[in-house]
Amino acid sequence: MPISNAFRKRLFAVLPKIILNFGTPFILYDIEGIKETYKALAACFEELQYNNFFAVKATPEPYILEIMRDLGCGFDCSSIPELLMVRKIGAKPEDIMFTSNNTSEQEFEVAAADGGCILNLDDISLIDQVPKMPERICFRYNPGPARSGNVIIGDPVESKYGVPDEDIIEAYARAKERGAAIFGLHAMICSNELNYEYLAENANMLINVARRLYDELGIELEFINIGGGIGIPYKPEDEPVDIIRMGSRITEIMKHFENDIGYMPKLYTESGRYITGPHGVLVMSVQNIMNKYRKYIGTDACMNANMRPAMYGAHHEISALGKQTTTSKEVVDVVGSLCENNDKFAIQRVLPKLKIGDILIQDDVGAHSVAMGFNYNGRLRPKQLALEYSTVHCIRRKQVPEDLDITLQGGDVGKTIQLHQELKGVSHEQTKQIT
Ligand SMILES: Cc1ncc(COP(=O)(O)O)c(C=O)c1O
Repeated sequence: MPISNAFRKRLFAVLPKIILNFGTPFILYDIEGIKETYKALAACFEELQYNNFFAVKATPEPYILEIMRDLGCGFDCSSIPELLMVRKIGAKPEDIMFTSNNTSEQEFEVAAADGGCILNLDDISLIDQVPKMPERICFRYNPGPARSGNVIIGDPVESKYGVPDEDIIEAYARAKERGAAIFGLHAMICSNELNYEYLAENANMLINVARRLYDELGIELEFINIGGGIGIPYKPEDEPVDIIRMGSRITEIMKHFENDIGYMPKLYTESGRYITGPHGVLVMSVQNIMNKYRKYIGTDACMNANMRPAMYGAHHEISALGKQTTTSKEVVDVVGSLCENNDKFAIQRVLPKLKIGDILIQDDVGAHSVAMGFNYNGRLRPKQLALEYSTVHCIRRKQVPEDLDITLQGGDVGKTIQLHQELKGVSHEQTKQIT
């Protein structure tokens, strides 16, 4: 989505000063925008007992997570480092949902440490792997062929996530046998979904499972968690999600269930993109202009600042500071410096004619963008800034080359083992093949 007009107006007025003080490239978050968006989402569910467990993977920045915490959000974590990060900012056990998949023994241990968290199991086989069944347990549901249509995640039958429909009742029965007493139900079957009806259907789907759990096992769920996946309109022609309609449809579904069954579970979401996505921009400078078979605009950032175009062919709007009304335009590829030909922020995009030193702003990089960034080619990730009222501060420094040395210390570094005994009788030629 082109960032909101209000944000653009505020941002463009202050960008020259920010660039003078911080240089480029950088990611900048509009904190007020993030807060407003969260409040608008929460307001859609005001008749329900609702909370959002912010998806840490979307924007794993402690500064942003503290804002979410202060807004009353919980956190959806998918790895040990994410768990540690939210515990460090003071998230309480009941505010942390741990949704891993292909879960390791160590992950179960860390999930149970420090007062635990809401453990969300991804498969029926994991019930016996949990060292000590916690009192509160949740399962991630995969509806299989009953649902399809989300273009990003694809069909549930092809997804590695979640407990299949035929196992779901047995999963709760077995968890109960192992001592679980408080239950939640979760699903995450769509990503960047713009159709409110599809999102509301996710709630309906879980409510139908809640009915079966009540009828067959007498279980009253503490909550249903319909996951993340609320989309944002990255392309100018995309329509934003009608969250008001989504909210009232889901409220209707929940109330209908309450009328029929006599209780109502809490409603959780674990939205990330919808809340922070539109409120982050990547600001970069033009450092080269090259005419080859195509015209290339080389910037001082690279794909590790926003992985989405290279990973998904995703569209992100780009504008040039001070050139909003320029009529002289041309078709270009906007690229970074990585030795990968998919290191492109835009392909064959019509932009105003640019010169070296011009400033480019790429929209909608507040979620799942720099967070996915890597250090391939030794390329360092950019600094991150927060704009809050009339203040800008740096919330994460630019990486430095020494950051790439960190894994050369400690752990197994320097440990050597000898394999002479095991290789006895193996010829030199065979050894070479083995090593
Ligand atoms: C389990 C889970 N929950 C929540 C999210 C957040 O999704 P979004 O940021 O699109 O709302 C994701 C994203 O991949 C996820 O895997």
